[in-house]
Amino acid sequence: MILNSYAKLNLFLKVLNLRKDNYHNLETVFERIDLHDRIVLKSLPGKLIKVSCNNPSVPADSGNICYRAAELLQKACKVNKGVEIKIIKKIPVGSGMGGGSGNAAATLLGLNKLWGLGLSRKKLVGFAKKIGADVAFFIYDVPFAYGASRGDEIKPIVALGDVRLWHILVVPGIHVSTPLIFKKWDSFSGKNSYLAGLTSSVSNVKILTSVIRKNALSYKGESLFNSLEVLTISLYPEVGSIKNKLARLGLKSILMSGSGPAVFGVVASRKQALLFKKQLERENASWQVFAVRTH
Ligand code: C5P
Repeated sequence: MILNSYAKLNLFLKVLNLRKDNYHNLETVFERIDLHDRIVLKSLPGKLIKVSCNNPSVPADSGNICYRAAELLQKACKVNKGVEIKIIKKIPVGSGMGGGSGNAAATLLGLNKLWGLGLSRKKLVGFAKKIGADVAFFIYDVPFAYGASRGDEIKPIVALGDVRLWHILVVPGIHVSTPLIFKKWDSFSGKNSYLAGLTSSVSNVKILTSVIRKNALSYKGESLFNSLEVLTISLYPEVGSIKNKLARLGLKSILMSGSGPAVFGVVASRKQALLFKKQLERENASWQVFAVRTH
């Protein structure tokens, strides 16, 4: 069984407060994009779970997020079968685009069929939440969704069902630690209402959705917002360099996704995205550049 495992961007991400479980409550808007990994699942006799990946920075043992997803299902549903999981990576690892979370979701969805478990979406979402905050979004087969709580209370944005946006996407060759960025948010949020997300009628998910809906074909990226961007840039200045570079190319709406370091800009067409991609690749060999679309 072969599954596509897509990436996400956060068009909006407002961190609200630290929770007792050390996660953060947040308000986010997810967009699924066409950049994707492939997950190949093959049933194995016995209860063996085997993982391999073409990218050596991804663990191929019980620490792999797909391994954990398979093991969770195996135990919870008392499955007496095993699985071989091959991950073919195209989404940059640890980039803020939910690659690993999408892989885990694809594993849950695929094993539900391969092992004939017949689990409802609600049940699968329950398992997804146990694996990571971003996994639940990928269980829903939708291009746009709101995420509340830890980002795992998902509500598909039905009004944007037909909207397809084009982006230029840039990923520098650095690794950003998500827990570190959230810790930094904790130490700043008490002192700074902007970071705490207490400001702004302008940064609001409802406004964002309505602007995108009204300008479906001419949306230029108004009302994009990410609480974590300023923090990641302070620790990893290269993220700021990408933003500056995109601004110099004339892009108006540029945002970091998740805790970074991926940065995207909203562009009008595939043609424009490909033009920017060519130019950026010529100038910065260490950046991975993609022209991507809502999927
Ligand atoms: O769930 P996931 O493993 O993707 O989260 C990685 C880390 O990001 C968590 O361990 C936590 O430090 C931070 N995080 C958070 N609040 C969220 C999501 C993630 O603090 N809502």
